[in-house]
Amino acid sequence: MTEYLLNLARFVSYNEKKDIFKELKNKDFKVSNDSWSYRRLIIDKPIKGKTYVASLIELKESFSQDNLNQTIKRLSKYKIKEIKAKIDRNVPFHEKAVVDRYLKKEKFNPNGEVIYLEAKKENEKVLVRIGVYLEERENNTSQNKNNSSQNKVAGEKNNFPDLAIESPYTLGEIGDFLRFSKTFKVKVYILTLNDKDSLENIQKFLKENNFDKGKVTIVKDIDVIKNNYEVIGFSMWGKDSLESLKINKKTLLIFGNERRGLLKSTMDKCSKVIKIGSSSEALRACQAASFTLGYLFSKK
Ligand SMILES: C[S@@+](CC[C@H](N)C(=O)[O-])C[C@H]1O[C@@H](n2cnc3c(N)ncnc32)[C@H](O)[C@@H]1O
Repeated sequence: MTEYLLNLARFVSYNEKKDIFKELKNKDFKVSNDSWSYRRLIIDKPIKGKTYVASLIELKESFSQDNLNQTIKRLSKYKIKEIKAKIDRNVPFHEKAVVDRYLKKEKFNPNGEVIYLEAKKENEKVLVRIGVYLEERENNTSQNKNNSSQNKVAGEKNNFPDLAIESPYTLGEIGDFLRFSKTFKVKVYILTLNDKDSLENIQKFLKENNFDKGKVTIVKDIDVIKNNYEVIGFSMWGKDSLESLKINKKTLLIFGNERRGLLKSTMDKCSKVIKIGSSSEALRACQAASFTLGYLFSKK
């Protein structure tokens, strides 16, 4: 019988988990608690469209390994696009070791599966489970099929601008712009101006957070990228209105940091500098960027 590992979303409380258990039973699922973690359930059928599902994994095999090579050998049977591992602290290897060792033998295949690998130590033995993410598989299929759906995000539209933030120095500002990259699939530049605080915080944030870093590029200043774009600045001191924003060629929208806004030297390199609204109270950079993306998106 195929088993599915249901990872519960973080918001699910202990009592809510009990309700979910009952609800599934009433719907004729075979359901049991997972001995590996209280945040998970094992079910016998896939489930769809439930907010409490953080991820759903079809379990392929469970075994006790003598050495990592055995696990790599087992992984070699699959067509793999990516390996996501959950490895307990007391296990003598970590995710990077699994991926590096796998890539010494095999290559990732863009048409393959996202593999779930979990390992824990019990009675001096390393137990391993391997599965396939079903959610990832479904997302990919629906995205490919459904190009014109409302799920389409900003960066997938033609002629949509890229974003930049100049020298963000709080983790909040950095996080806000990285979220743009992840949620809207737009390309995001972080300009450091070689500022020590900014550089430290960017490194810290990237280390601690699992964002889609492929779309985030860290550069020193606007000079590094300005030749590839029409650059539009955003500032409280701007003289142009949002309505004047037309995207005719590859455009970069650049926002200033919380403390001092865009540098004058950066504004001088912009083809226009836009002020949103007429209030003398500044928005946060992410609010100004969200409003602008919403404005552009609604016009298309
Ligand atoms: C908190 S504001 C910076 C305030 C800074 N003290 C200043 O005077 O520019 C952060 C960034 O958000 C953008 N921003 C905030 N309010 C804006 C507005 N009304 N119009 C255009 N951009 C704005 C600008 O890029 C600004 O640099």
